[in-house]
Amino acid sequence: MNSIIKCENIIKSYKMGQTRLQVLKGVNLETARGEFVAVMGSSGSGKSTLLHILGALDKPDSGEIIYEGTNLARISAARLNAYRNKQVGFVFQFYHLLDEFNVLENTLLPAMASSSVIKWAAISSDIKKRAVSLLEKVGLADRLNHKPHQLSGGERQRTALARALINEPRLLLADEPTGNLDWQRGSEILTLLKQLNKEGQTIIMVTHDKKVADAADRTVVIQDGKI
Ligand SMILES: Nc1ncnc2c1ncn2[C@@H]1O[C@H](COP(=O)(O)OP(=O)(O)O)[C@@H](O)[C@H]1O
Ligand SMILES: [Mg+2]
Repeated sequence: MNSIIKCENIIKSYKMGQTRLQVLKGVNLETARGEFVAVMGSSGSGKSTLLHILGALDKPDSGEIIYEGTNLARISAARLNAYRNKQVGFVFQFYHLLDEFNVLENTLLPAMASSSVIKWAAISSDIKKRAVSLLEKVGLADRLNHKPHQLSGGERQRTALARALINEPRLLLADEPTGNLDWQRGSEILTLLKQLNKEGQTIIMVTHDKKVADAADRTVVIQDGKI
């Protein structure tokens, strides 16, 4: 397999007072470049936990994550930050947009975060063009100046999708991206994800919904802490 990311024997538990809740009990998952994989599982099965670990938003107790041949546990904090910001794009169920910024600004944030002030002066006009073209692609060309509270749920998620793509991540991670939307709006997001995947974007999406998982090429199921 032409692997982009591979995790081996991921174990993760949460400490709850005196006891430990073991959520992931040895998860193995390998994803090829260009694949669209759905990770299905019931509520509480550890899907978000796994996705956060793959995106380096959280650390496993043990186990390895190998991204493009590099073990994430062995790289410096700075390189791990760069991985989080540039290699991975994250889409959350509840969008996580910043209310005080408009659609265009929200989309630009990850690009600004990964740039110095001086560099930003030089690259910002190109990146703004890219942001506008991504927003056109997700159907928000006439919403650039809207604030999140002025948008529908579907429009918020499409903004979040443009934001996730601004740094041209090699891996898109989506956590129940349609979970807060009605079926019609959710289908629009899935159609966009499928289109992105056709254009070469690697996607790992987690969902509890079989109908949503059907958008992917391959579905794996997480149950009792394992895949
Ligand atoms: N920070 C945390 N502290 C304690 N327990 C947690 C924490 N995050 C998640 N859990 C528990 O871990 C289990 C898996 O959570 P999660 O990965 O969010 O599941 P899913 O996304 O599949 O619904 C759940 O039982 C949840 O209550
Ligand atoms: Mg979840």
